[in-house]
Amino acid sequence: MAIKASNVPAALTRGPLITLDGPAGSGKSSTAQEVARRLGFRHLDSGALYRALTFALLEEGVAEHTWGALEPFELDPLGLRVEAEDAAVNIYRNGVLLTSELRGPGVTERVAMVAGVPAVREWLLEVQRSLGAEGNLVADGRDMGTVVFPKADLKVFLIAGLEERARRRLIQDFAREPTMEDIKEMAERIEQRDQADQTRDHSPLKRPEDAVDLDTTAITFDDQVSFILRRIKDLTRLQGEI
Ligand code: C5P
Repeated sequence: MAIKASNVPAALTRGPLITLDGPAGSGKSSTAQEVARRLGFRHLDSGALYRALTFALLEEGVAEHTWGALEPFELDPLGLRVEAEDAAVNIYRNGVLLTSELRGPGVTERVAMVAGVPAVREWLLEVQRSLGAEGNLVADGRDMGTVVFPKADLKVFLIAGLEERARRRLIQDFAREPTMEDIKEMAERIEQRDQADQTRDHSPLKRPEDAVDLDTTAITFDDQVSFILRRIKDLTRLQGEI
């Protein structure tokens, strides 16, 4: 029997929450964005939040060797504001919308270090949970299904071969087929970031126990989106809602 939002326990009356976790370059954000678009849900790219903090620390000139000892209250003056606006979650610094600056090499090189700082994770936890309070959200990252939204309705763990992830990242950045040498270099950088994300003490990247696995190495983007949409539609609790 389909369960409607009106006859489920109060704790479940929020809209659906879907999480996608996985290593760098596994296609989480683009997939999450398309799944959210198809469902009319909001998309949270949690990596962008860690990138925004990294960008702000660099812009503010906070010395890198002090980052590990920061307290959460010391992040307040960095001028960041996170706003849920229609289907998107936008991040502003001193009133200016952050976009391509979050993807620059300086930020990408340091973001895994910032993501290992306890104050950073604490500061962002509430921000992320409040964005998911009403559900109707597809959130992607490293700890969405394990720490931030442990009660999500569907948790997907995306993986893809290292070289394929490197190739996709390069095509995304340079819009052309990369050389083997470029792929090798990018694969090394991705591997280092994965290693840092998997081995940190606080909220490391790991597969949620109740996740559905999706290996995207050899399937098309459309197939991976369809796979997730099918799984969502299979969820009894959501049958009356989507
Ligand atoms: O997804 P993206 O590659 O933009 O994430 C950048 C970095 O942010 C990751 O390498 C990871 O260090 C950090 N991150 C995290 N937890 C999340 C999302 C991202 O630690 N939920």
